[in-house]
Amino acid sequence: MFSRKQISPPNTPLEEEKDKYYYSKYKETQFSLNNPNLKFAALVFIFLSSWLLLLLFWFPPKTTNNVAVLHLAHKTENAETINLAAAAPTKSPFKVPTCDPSVAVYVYPLPPKFNTGLLSRCKTLNVYTDMCPHVANRGLGQPLPKLGSPAAWFATHQFIAEMIFHARVENHPCRTLDPARAALFYVPFYGGLHASSMFKEANLTARDELAVNLVDHLQAQPWWGRNSGRDHFIALGRTAWDFMRATDGPDFGANSLLNLPAVKNMSVLTVERHPWQGSNHYGIPYPSYFHPSTWQEILTWQNKVREMYRPNLFSFIGGPRKGLEKAAIRNEFIRQCGESTRCFLMNCGPSGASKCHEPSEVLKVMTESTFCLQAPGDSFTRRSTFDSVLAGCIPVFFSPHTAYTQYKWFLPEEVKTYSVYIDEKSPASRKIEDELLKISGEKVKAMREKLVDLIPSLTYAHPNATDVGFGDAVDVTLASLANHLSEMMN
Ligand SMILES: *[C@@H]1O[C@H](CO)[C@@H](O)[C@H](O)[C@H]1NC(C)=O
Ligand SMILES: *[C@@H]1O[C@H](CO)[C@@H](O)[C@H](O)[C@H]1NC(C)=O
Ligand SMILES: *[C@@H]1O[C@H](CO)[C@@H](O)[C@H](O)[C@H]1NC(C)=O
Repeated sequence: MFSRKQISPPNTPLEEEKDKYYYSKYKETQFSLNNPNLKFAALVFIFLSSWLLLLLFWFPPKTTNNVAVLHLAHKTENAETINLAAAAPTKSPFKVPTCDPSVAVYVYPLPPKFNTGLLSRCKTLNVYTDMCPHVANRGLGQPLPKLGSPAAWFATHQFIAEMIFHARVENHPCRTLDPARAALFYVPFYGGLHASSMFKEANLTARDELAVNLVDHLQAQPWWGRNSGRDHFIALGRTAWDFMRATDGPDFGANSLLNLPAVKNMSVLTVERHPWQGSNHYGIPYPSYFHPSTWQEILTWQNKVREMYRPNLFSFIGGPRKGLEKAAIRNEFIRQCGESTRCFLMNCGPSGASKCHEPSEVLKVMTESTFCLQAPGDSFTRRSTFDSVLAGCIPVFFSPHTAYTQYKWFLPEEVKTYSVYIDEKSPASRKIEDELLKISGEKVKAMREKLVDLIPSLTYAHPNATDVGFGDAVDVTLASLANHLSEMMN
């Protein structure tokens, strides 16, 4: 009733199919062949496809062709549009989510001091970095033509998911402007940006002030009372630890947002949930660099990733850490990787720091490696995990909290199907290369295929696009949240 439809590609007779199918890239779409024009088009299509297939056998594609393909594959929405991309499917092969009433999401119109108003002081939003280039383009950051189309590739900051999420939900087909019809109430607070601007604020009352104002504001809204806030949610681009100041122990600069009773009634989406005290926290992906607007862009990238030549068995991108017990394993990785001829080490120590922040360099290493070591950093999770999936590089985890306990809405339950786990305290962690060499080529191929399938749902689509034709990270989040709420409320 409320729902504006998510996607309705023109001339698709099998409407109901879009929910069910997940066909392989080689299978052809079914068309109703009553229309003579269509019949003719289909014949031409079949002829061209067979011809292309034949060519494919004589001249197998080289990986260098892919860039050209990226620009070719564009909006071919029905069988009549036949061009060089004809061998590719003409309608989305992905599962496209639909908007039923349980996903109707209302976006609170908050006073600007809670979100966009913060951006006017972008220079001071992070005590370490000028955030102005990063908050541009609604959080996508600066375009990165080096990586592909500047409309889809951006140097996106790792802690900016809250802005992209906001931009995408505002423009989402499941958004409703009528709170009476909403099942989900989204509170678009830029809590991460605010928190990082206050890390050095010694006055704790001042540090917590905006969070306290936010819950006062929410509780005064008529819709809060309906379910005591249980149908409300926030999305945060920083880890839960930044919003859970402990009353004992050292002060890392965190505020108390997630400790407030009202927020405990809400669902909290965060790039890193608290593994033990975060029963209302749900992990959402860190943003990577790819923000496509169409399913064709995803498909092209997936094909490219499958065909990458990967000379390195494994790689490690990271710097040493001092003092933190969690990060001790990093020094061990740097040693092992440095000693192995099969490992590529991008050391992010003081001298190599710039390359590590260059997205094209990071993705290059990952697309040239079979396995990517994911060491815990300052906290359990890393943005690098998501870069690695995007690059088709199989992540190797050393703590269950780097991904398995974090992103349950997104990652398969069978963790061995897409990742390698080596307990950081096990003897195996002393000989990573030997462990990785034990994995058969066939297994590697299957795992990579699984990762490639995960790319769409871990991607934040371009917020200006509405009919993207695949389920992105925001689609998965909204659907999972809706599921979770209907279970909780019943
Ligand atoms: C989205 O579209 C608007 C209006 O056309 C434009 O001003 C804006 O720059 C676009 N946003 C991004 C992130 O490209
Ligand atoms: C701490 O901040 C609060 C809120 O901004 C303010 O009212 C209070 O005076 C400050 N306390 C001190 C000691 O500066
Ligand atoms: C949280 O929910 C409970 C009901 O489960 C309610 O009694 C309480 O008032 C809510 N807290 C706030 C701050 O709204």
